[in-house]
Amino acid sequence: MQAECLSGRTVVITGASRGIGAATAEHLARQGAYVILACPSSTQGRAAAARVHSLVRSARVESVVCDLACLSRVREAAGEITVLAGGRLDLLINNAGVAALPSTRSANGYEMHFAVNHLGHFALTGHLLPALLNTLEPRVVNVSSVLHWLGRRTDRPHAPRRYHRWAAYFDSKLANLHFTHGLATWARDRRLPLRAVAAHPGLVNSSLGSSALHADGRHVEARLLKAMQERWHSPSDAAWSLVRAATDPHLASGDFVGPGGRGECSGPPVPVRAARRARDVHAIERLWHLSQELAAHPFPSAVPPSRRDT
Ligand SMILES: NC(=O)c1ccc[n+]([C@@H]2O[C@H](COP(=O)([O-])OP(=O)(O)OC[C@H]3O[C@@H](n4cnc5c(N)ncnc54)[C@H](OP(=O)(O)O)[C@@H]3O)[C@@H](O)[C@H]2O)c1
Repeated sequence: MQAECLSGRTVVITGASRGIGAATAEHLARQGAYVILACPSSTQGRAAAARVHSLVRSARVESVVCDLACLSRVREAAGEITVLAGGRLDLLINNAGVAALPSTRSANGYEMHFAVNHLGHFALTGHLLPALLNTLEPRVVNVSSVLHWLGRRTDRPHAPRRYHRWAAYFDSKLANLHFTHGLATWARDRRLPLRAVAAHPGLVNSSLGSSALHADGRHVEARLLKAMQERWHSPSDAAWSLVRAATDPHLASGDFVGPGGRGECSGPPVPVRAARRARDVHAIERLWHLSQELAAHPFPSAVPPSRRDT
């Protein structure tokens, strides 16, 4: 897929109401893609679509309600997306995220970082497979973080007794990489042309984490985070890592893209290294099987024969 010409390509971006997702939607719309914004609130989704429209007059953009914290809603959203996309989806960018939440459970009873940042995206990807496999070079981009280096375990769908809000986030960002490798293997084993690529945006001045800290009465931590965030790069600059992961034809399944500047905090996007733990095949398999079970097996073990040899 060429970065400069996405005309005729259909893209879905989760968490596109603000931050890096909204900026990525704008970049891809400028390049001619038909962009579907998957957002948890219809009001925010419509506002985000209107914003892209006001910035890119020629943009073809729609929004769909998709609450990743609820698996039945994810399934419904995938159905709506498939209809809007006319059954053909070139690119799915799993970007939405939450951070630093107090111990909270999703609609299905799972720890919220695990549920939104990983499991909802796992289910969405599985439900969108038929539409993805209906295009020639389908690609899934999972948005992780440099903080995945601090992740330890990804097979804990429930909060441990000694819950730590940031540890839960780190683990979920490691899960994004385990899912990327799991999906790459799943597609390769079935000789499918689907590419799974990961990206991280560096350190970004967005609202990630600060609203959760404020809501929990952690004003000092929230102010400290906001003060740090003001020195970080903009969502618009950060979005280039996602755009490259989504469009660079030379990237292979399992590749990871992030900003190339010092400490991978900012700068133009380049292929980057992930922690060794991100490639632990046993951990990848454990997360894959666990997610399949929790999300009621969105990934079929068999694939339609017509797609096997493409
Ligand atoms: N900011 C950073 O420095 C940084 C660094 C590394 C990685 N990242 C990653 O980049 C991604 C985007 O983060 P950001 O900084 O742009 O954060 P953000 O500004 O807080 O945006 C997060 C997005 O996720 C959506 N979201 C939250 N809960 C959701 C749910 N249950 N279902 C569906 N969507 C939901 C939000 O929708 P609403 O607005 O409607 O709630 C929002 O659009 C995340 O995966 C994050 O982990 C960020």
